Amino acid sequence: MKILFYDTKIYDKETFEHQLVHYPNIQIDYLETDLSPQTAALARDYDAVCAFVNSDLSKPALDVLNSCHVRLLLMRCAGFNNVDLEAAKSYGMTILRVPGYSPEAVAEHAMALALAVNRHLHKAYIKVRENNFSLAGLMGSNFHQKTAGIIGTGKIGAAMAKICRGFGMKVIAYDVYQNPDLDFVTYVDLDELLASSDLVSLHCPLMDNTYHLINKDTIAKMKDGVILINTSRGGLIKTDDLILGIRARKFFGVGLDVYEEETRNVFEDRSDEILEHSTTARLLSFPNVIITSHQGFFTEEALEAIAATTLSNADSFEKGNISKGNEVK
Ligand code: NAI
Repeated sequence: MKILFYDTKIYDKETFEHQLVHYPNIQIDYLETDLSPQTAALARDYDAVCAFVNSDLSKPALDVLNSCHVRLLLMRCAGFNNVDLEAAKSYGMTILRVPGYSPEAVAEHAMALALAVNRHLHKAYIKVRENNFSLAGLMGSNFHQKTAGIIGTGKIGAAMAKICRGFGMKVIAYDVYQNPDLDFVTYVDLDELLASSDLVSLHCPLMDNTYHLINKDTIAKMKDGVILINTSRGGLIKTDDLILGIRARKFFGVGLDVYEEETRNVFEDRSDEILEHSTTARLLSFPNVIITSHQGFFTEEALEAIAATTLSNADSFEKGNISKGNEVK
C-alpha cells in the first residue's frame, strides 16, 4: 500500500519511520505541503493520503483525490471537521482517524495554559530575564476550592476534569451525554456552568451546533474575572466577541491553543512576516491572553500513539478488517 503524507514535519517523519518497521506492506512518501485542491493531484498512483488538522478536505480537494483513485483518507488526528463527509461518502472513500491517542497530552496543555494565564508566567519569564524581580502585575488566584467548568466530557474533557479535581477544584460539566466514569463531576446546564465557573475549559468537538458556542451572549453569562481555555477547535469561539469581552475586562485570562484564523499559521515559522489578520494580531496584543499554536497533542507519547494507530488503520484497511471505532461515517 502506497500512502502520500501531506503537511509532514521532521518529527512526523521520525515517529512514523520508527513504527513503519512493523509494516513491510506499507510505503510512505512525505510531503511538506498541505493537502488542498491544488496539491491533491500529487496523490495520483497512491492508495491513500494521510492528512492533518488543517488539511483542506473540502469537496474540490476530494474531487481531485477521487479522480486520482484514492480510496482511503487517513486522518492522523482525532478531529475531522475539515473533511466534507458527504462528498467522501459519495465517492465511497473510507475515512479512518485516531480517536484518542493521548487525551492527557491535550488536557495537561489546557491546564498549563490555565496556570500560565492565572500566574502570569508569560510575563514573569520575561521580567526575570531582564533582572526585574518585582512582583507587580503577577498576582494570581488559587485554583484550590474554585470551580472548573468543563464543556464536553469525552476523553480529553474527562482527563481535564481529573486534573482539576487533583487541584482541589469543584468540577462541574456540561455535555449532551454524561460520562459515567466521572462520579465526582456535577453535570449542569450550560447557563449554570457559565455562571458558576472560575475556569471554563472547552473540550467539545466543532460541529454545526457548537460553532461559536462562546459568543457575546454566552460570554455575558460568565462570571467576571473568569479564565477561559480553548484547546478544542478555534470555531467554538467567536473571536470578535471574545475581543469585545476582553476589552470589557470580563476575563482574568484567556488561553488559546486553537483560534479561528489559525489555519495559515499552524506549524509554520512566520516570524519574518507581518500578520495580515487583524483579529489574531489584536488577540496577541492583550497582556492576559496566551496563544499557543495547536500544540496540545504534541508530546512524544501522543506522536508515537498517532503513528501506531494510523499505520494500523492503513494495514487493517488493506486487510479488509477496519476498526469500526476509528472509522468516520
Ligand atoms: P470525544 O469525542 O471523546 O469527546 C467530545 C465530547 O464532547 C463528547 O463527550 C460529546 O458528547 C461532547 N459534545 C458533543 N457535542 C456537544 C455539545 N453540543 N455540547 C457539549 N458537549 C458536546 O473527543 P476528545 O478526544 O475528548 O476531543 C475533544 C476535541 O479536542 C476534539 O473534537 C478536537 O477538536 C480537540 N482536540 C484538540 C487537540 C489539540 O492539539 N489542541 C488534539 C486532539 C483533539
